[in-house]
Amino acid sequence: MKTVFFTGKGGVGKSTMASAAAWQLASTGKRVLAVSFDPAHNLGDIFGLKLTNKKKKFDKKLYLMEVNLEKSSSKYIKDNISLLESIYSYLKPFNMERYFQVLKYSPGIEEYASLTALEELIRTEKNFDYIIVDTPPTGLTIRILALPLVTLSWIDRLKKIRSSILEKRYTIHNINGKISEKGVKLAYKETDDMVMKKLSEIETRFLALKSFLEGDNNSIVVVFNPDFLSLRESQRLINDLKELHLPFRTAINNKVEERYIKDAEDIEKKLLNEVPSVKRLRIKRIEPPPEKGYTINENLTGVLF
Ligand SMILES: Nc1ncnc2c1ncn2[C@@H]1O[C@H](COP(=O)(O)OP(=O)(O)O)[C@@H](O)[C@H]1O
Ligand SMILES: [Mg+2]
Repeated sequence: MKTVFFTGKGGVGKSTMASAAAWQLASTGKRVLAVSFDPAHNLGDIFGLKLTNKKKKFDKKLYLMEVNLEKSSSKYIKDNISLLESIYSYLKPFNMERYFQVLKYSPGIEEYASLTALEELIRTEKNFDYIIVDTPPTGLTIRILALPLVTLSWIDRLKKIRSSILEKRYTIHNINGKISEKGVKLAYKETDDMVMKKLSEIETRFLALKSFLEGDNNSIVVVFNPDFLSLRESQRLINDLKELHLPFRTAINNKVEERYIKDAEDIEKKLLNEVPSVKRLRIKRIEPPPEKGYTINENLTGVLF
């Protein structure tokens, strides 16, 4: 299974290119799942279907879905609150629930919910040859893609803190003898500790996700338009991708007009001079804009990896 992320500034044509790539791959017999993470969902509009969190069949080989960020965030918060409540049940007297309940206002929840949904898709939808991802505008996408790295450094730190807590607990336990309180079962060893187990589980998942995203089976496509603002944002995006060790493989210069071809070439040079191995594709501006964006003429399948 391979994944392809279509990234770029709002309005450059990510959804259109992602749809076209998905449609073209499916037409060559590949099993394809196209999934949108953009809160302003256009995938359904492009294919003329109402899409939800559950994949829907569009064609023999092509399935579509839109990850609803609000729903995913609520589910993510609910799952985590019940996990925290079960792990910290012995803290009930301190009214910790109050703190758990305000988690929903915590910054970064949407990004974590998106990443959790993405991780699950990559782990479970192995029957597809391709998962095509239509992403939200640049900032949010980068924050989502940076999360595995950020999380792993946090987990490392948290495991050390937890380890030291368990060590102290064990020492106190040895001095005091057995704690006799009923219903409270504290762990003293790392192998018995639920918090440590959960941290290790998250670590394993995020390590696998990180190595998948950085590996040969993932491709990041940057879509841009031949204009100055798009150039600037794409330059920042390409720098961020480099910093995150994510494989930027393809650049699509979309909405190119024949009469401004010199400017389009100039922007392409400025953007891609330092990355000669990146595959390039130019797509003409279609007048009027395509109603069924997935049927554009240019072939994308050959430039994705
Ligand atoms: N090659 C093209 N020629 C003309 N219009 C295009 C082209 N590609 C995309 N568009 C139009 O540009 C608008 C934005 O495209 P969209 O794919 O929704 O961008 P994004 O997902 O990056 O926000 C849409 O109206 C779409 O139909
Ligand atoms: Mg879009």
